[in-house]
Amino acid sequence: MELEIRKLTPALAEEYAHFFDVTPHDVNIEEQKCYCVTWRSDASYEADGNHWFPTREERREKAIRFVREGSLQGYLAFRDGEIVGWCNANGDCRRCVDYLRMFWPIPAEDAAVRVKSVFCFVIAPQMQRRGIATKLLEAVVRDAAAEGYDYVEAYANEVFSYEDHDFRGPVAMYEKCGFCRYAAQDGRVVMRKKL
Ligand SMILES: CC(C)(COP(=O)(O)OP(=O)(O)OC[C@H]1O[C@@H](n2cnc3c(N)ncnc32)[C@H](O)[C@@H]1OP(=O)(O)O)[C@@H](O)C(=O)NCCC(=O)NCCS
Repeated sequence: MELEIRKLTPALAEEYAHFFDVTPHDVNIEEQKCYCVTWRSDASYEADGNHWFPTREERREKAIRFVREGSLQGYLAFRDGEIVGWCNANGDCRRCVDYLRMFWPIPAEDAAVRVKSVFCFVIAPQMQRRGIATKLLEAVVRDAAAEGYDYVEAYANEVFSYEDHDFRGPVAMYEKCGFCRYAAQDGRVVMRKKL
């Protein structure tokens, strides 16, 4: 399988939105398609307030705008020129991490510590279990190290299922990529890799 991992850039905004248009994910209800708009840089919240927008069309339009302005960040997996996977990873999402703190036990720490967070994966159903999420995660780690981050952090569930926020990937995948358990409580596990 010829797979290419590319960082999401403004030029890929339309292709990014198209991937969500045509790829079954989450509960797979057309009107609920997320376009991954929630997980984005703090600066876009200052301008826009919401983490969610009422209609699918609005979320699609916002996603394109957020990608173009660089506040929605991550990596895409291409196979034969077609997007088959997505990983949302961003180091400038304090607001999103603070939201996750309501569910995942993340201890407070020095603001000088630079953490890149992994917020979501979408792998096309027919392409799952072929190592694509792993390759996306490896790209996140590689670039975060080069960019001077101290850690990559992810928010997983002890028991992996397709329900209850498991779009952030299984603990086993993070362990295979050298992540350690940083904190755990009530079945929620924060995984971290020191760079
Ligand atoms: C969870 C998900 C990200 C995994 O992606 P993937 O490319 O299939 O994962 P990988 O092939 O890299 O698997 C890495 C490891 O994770 C674990 N793993 C992956 N899928 C698993 C599953 N369904 N059950 C148990 N373990 C699993 C395994 O340990 C696997 O290693 P192995 O295959 O050598 O055993 C993918 O299934 C997915 O995108 N699911 C849908 C998420 C979703 O709904 N997103 C939309 C949110 S709005």
